[in-house]
Amino acid sequence: MSREYWENLYQTGDTRWDKGEASPGLVDFLKRERLSKGSVLVPGCGRGHDARVWANAGFSATGLDVAPSAVRESREQTAPGINAQFREGNFLEDEPFARFDYIFEHTLFCAINPSERDNYVKAARRWLKPDGKFVAVFYLIPDTDGPPFGTTREEVRERFEPFFLLEEDWVPRSYPNRTGLEWMTVWRTGNDVEAKSER
Ligand SMILES: C[S@@+](CC[C@H](N)C(=O)[O-])C[C@H]1O[C@@H](n2cnc3c(N)ncnc32)[C@H](O)[C@@H]1O
Repeated sequence: MSREYWENLYQTGDTRWDKGEASPGLVDFLKRERLSKGSVLVPGCGRGHDARVWANAGFSATGLDVAPSAVRESREQTAPGINAQFREGNFLEDEPFARFDYIFEHTLFCAINPSERDNYVKAARRWLKPDGKFVAVFYLIPDTDGPPFGTTREEVRERFEPFFLLEEDWVPRSYPNRTGLEWMTVWRTGNDVEAKSER
């Protein structure tokens, strides 16, 4: 899906994925988890709800989106003093302008064409620091005519396990129409994982 495709959805107001609030699973996670503070990238940030929740929890948040209107609206919805910035760019293709302690995935993996999923995994490694963590909410639906395009736990494990170690996973609290359809995961990188992927 091109930049123009997404920009057109924002300009025509056809943004049904946007529930006007952050991922409930993320909100709960940030309340209970004692993560060391650092920088977080939210790729495909949309209007910035998730990035603002990370910022309010004490992280330095950057939202990245390919659609200029998403970036503009994110900035408009972010009150002065909140530690969240928004940039236009392509998560899959761009050379990182910084490397992050965390990446938070929420509805970008299901938004891209499944043929780009290998590129997604490589991009996640590229944008993370060598000891970074990848926190993700995956959308487990069967749809093949997306976006959204569905996935399974098995597919996600197959794609990510060569490059990341799964530390934790659970079924999170969700928006009402996604209850039971989401899978939340925390993955880490590191030298030992690197060595495993090189074998
Ligand atoms: C389904 S929407 C989800 C938005 C947001 N995560 C949310 O849940 O409200 C997917 C978002 O990813 C953006 N996007 C699609 N491909 C992208 C890419 N390659 N790099 C960065 N953003 C992308 C779209 O513009 C859109 O804002």
